[in-house]
Amino acid sequence: MMVCEYKPGLEGIPAAQSSISYVDGQKGILEYRGIRIEELAAKSTFLETAYLLIWGELPSKEELKAFEEEVRLHRRIKYRIRDMMKCFPESGHPMDALQASAAALGLFYSLRDLHNPAYIRDSVVRLIATIPTMVAAFQLMRKGNDPVKPRDDLDYSANFLYMLHEKEPDALAAKIFDICLILHVEHTMNASTFSARVTASTLTDPYAVVASAVGTLGGPLHGGANEEVIQMLEEIGSVENVRPYVEERLQNKQKLMGFGHRVYKVKDPRAIILQELAEQLFDKFGGDKYYEIAQEMERVVEEKLGHKGIYPNVDFYSGLVYRKMGIPTDLFTPIFAIARVAGWLAHWKEQLAENRIFRPTQVYNGKHEVPYTPLDQR
Ligand code: ACO
Repeated sequence: MMVCEYKPGLEGIPAAQSSISYVDGQKGILEYRGIRIEELAAKSTFLETAYLLIWGELPSKEELKAFEEEVRLHRRIKYRIRDMMKCFPESGHPMDALQASAAALGLFYSLRDLHNPAYIRDSVVRLIATIPTMVAAFQLMRKGNDPVKPRDDLDYSANFLYMLHEKEPDALAAKIFDICLILHVEHTMNASTFSARVTASTLTDPYAVVASAVGTLGGPLHGGANEEVIQMLEEIGSVENVRPYVEERLQNKQKLMGFGHRVYKVKDPRAIILQELAEQLFDKFGGDKYYEIAQEMERVVEEKLGHKGIYPNVDFYSGLVYRKMGIPTDLFTPIFAIARVAGWLAHWKEQLAENRIFRPTQVYNGKHEVPYTPLDQR
């Protein structure tokens, strides 16, 4: 067997062949099935982009309509899932609530007909349709309120904001939210997608695939960074404090949240679009002092770390957009999951098409032939 060099974080090691998305980290390009995200953000919708990723082609008018209708019909969650969620502690993190609920959904659909296109379609629809309802339901129930039923006359994103805030959202806010979902839906072999593919490779059900990916997305080095960006901007508190804050963190060898990326060595193309979206919201609903802090931070970090290729990533501006929409900070990562579920499912489907179970190796650096020491001699 060929002996390979151990690469921490598997940096640069291909884990799959995939035609779902493509990143050029030097040029700042991201494509979904070959289409640039700038174009999708300007012209597509989240559900259309999800369809493109999962089934490989843009849908025809009829196909899109049918998919949207199926998702609309499956938005409601079972009362038993709702009752289960009511028992979750209100102090628990919504990502944990989402992970548990996504896994629980699998209890209701335990048949694993993985090679049947109808089963794949049904699971895709069910997961994409119900995850936003679960996130909104937990948000209301942890405040002691009853969850709000989905509204069939509202589009996917508008309906989520309606369920969350119990009122019909502003049209611009709903449109911008939908674009945010497009920007977060897929991103090649990141940690949560890798996790999804490993789980998928065991031929378990898609609910377990999504639940394991949700667990992986929650960490502060991955999707959880968007929450920490807002906490960081609040801690900085003023434009004047930016430089001393950055210098102190760098001196203490601490990371600056929302900056840096394993692949991008330029500003993340998603951050560029998110910044524009934030500005559109500020123009309509008034500015945000944290945006000024964020802009100053981007300048200072570029000055200090630009030579290392450290620039804002997707998480840097997304929090400011969600904050302006009145979304609580700890829902930022669950919202990331609402989008990313479609990417995970595209990888699930691709993994199944040419499956081989993941079973990497390791470099053992422990001891050998160690005698057992009886308890009374330790
Ligand atoms: N702040 C300060 N320095 C940084 C940062 C940062 N955010 N990111 C990387 N660096 C520095 C490291 O200190 C290291 O410097 P050195 O070579 O002098 O030791 C160098 O850049 C390489 O950094 P690594 O951590 O080795 O890069 P890696 O590819 O392993 O990590 C990661 C990428 C995890 C995204 C990292 O940049 C980071 O921790 N960023 C902050 C958290 C964050 O924003 N995560 C969200 C990423 S996007 C997403 O997952 C959706």
